[in-house]
Amino acid sequence: MLFFFEHVGSLKVAELSYRSEFRGGDRVRTCQPRRAQEKCAMGYDYFMSSLLDIRNLQVSFGAAAAVRGIGLQLEEGEVLGLVGESGSGKSATALAILGLLGPAAQVTGEILWRSAVTHRSGGSQEGKGAPGFVDLLKMRAEALRRLRGREIAMIFQEPMTALNPVMPIGRQVAEAAEAHAPSWTGREARRRAIVALEAVSIPDAARRYGDYPHQFSGGQRQRILIAMALINRPRLLIADEPTTALDVTVQAQVLELLKDLQKQHGLAMLFISHDLAVVGEVASRVAVMRAGEIVETGPCRRLLTAPEHPYTKSLLAAVPTLRTNRNQPLALVGGS
Ligand SMILES: Nc1ncnc2c1ncn2[C@@H]1O[C@H](COP(=O)(O)OP(=O)(O)OP(=O)(O)O)[C@@H](O)[C@H]1O
Ligand SMILES: [Mg+2]
Repeated sequence: MLFFFEHVGSLKVAELSYRSEFRGGDRVRTCQPRRAQEKCAMGYDYFMSSLLDIRNLQVSFGAAAAVRGIGLQLEEGEVLGLVGESGSGKSATALAILGLLGPAAQVTGEILWRSAVTHRSGGSQEGKGAPGFVDLLKMRAEALRRLRGREIAMIFQEPMTALNPVMPIGRQVAEAAEAHAPSWTGREARRRAIVALEAVSIPDAARRYGDYPHQFSGGQRQRILIAMALINRPRLLIADEPTTALDVTVQAQVLELLKDLQKQHGLAMLFISHDLAVVGEVASRVAVMRAGEIVETGPCRRLLTAPEHPYTKSLLAAVPTLRTNRNQPLALVGGS
């Protein structure tokens, strides 16, 4: 991949190329500055290569703080797991990224996104740092609406509430395509919707185009939502507990599908779950959240085998395994 940056803060960088590759299941990125002096820009390396860079994000609802100054970085094509108990602020973080928290929430900090398109509205400087970076918290509502779905898409925990119960599913998928590519109307939108449904293994997609959400199983409905989320080829998919409402077998199939699509499209993914074992199936890096704070971040393998924070240890101890004594109560999630 080759990216051109003219400025990085006050530093000038001519060209910077970096390669991403997978080695032994881990994502390895190598960075190759063109000139020696450009090495001075290496301090900005993580910043420049981050697709999403969340800094000191705080979300509160009145006096109650839901997110207390967290920082998270996500690279292009990386899968980051965000794990934590109920109420720890995972969904508040996800919704803040997409500007979907609503007027009751007070949000501060920075959510820097490396956009593929230039965003300027009303002449205001919405970005910060290098060109191409925009602070999603400072973006105008209309610009953010355009970015949602096209660059960043989200799938939610409960597929039935996320789908319109009185609209055929094919039409819903086609509308998702039309929203960002108005030229794809009529036949073209229908054709693309069918291809998208086939890509998520909805059997006989063309025939079932006119069926309604209640005519599909829970797992199929979640697949339809994945098709809608990915039809515009976003660069980041936020999956908020995408498999929690599904039974274990279907959960495994949907996880497999997400993993396949992620690899196929080189998609970055923020995968949210309260279940460290499920996160371990898909993510290469994990951030552990507790009471609105990130208490530990690290490669998935290390967190699953040698967690450092007491809270991560107790989360891991609470995951039942085949060896768990079913007559004993599960470990309580605690830690300091
Ligand atoms: N719209 C809202 N109004 C008031 N408080 C809210 C609102 N949304 C979330 N909260 C509060 O913010 C805190 C974090 O909630 P959030 O939904 O982010 O938790 P979560 O980690 O996603 O939990 P879960 O695993 O149950 O989905 C909770 O204390 C919750 O009660
Ligand atoms: Mg949640």
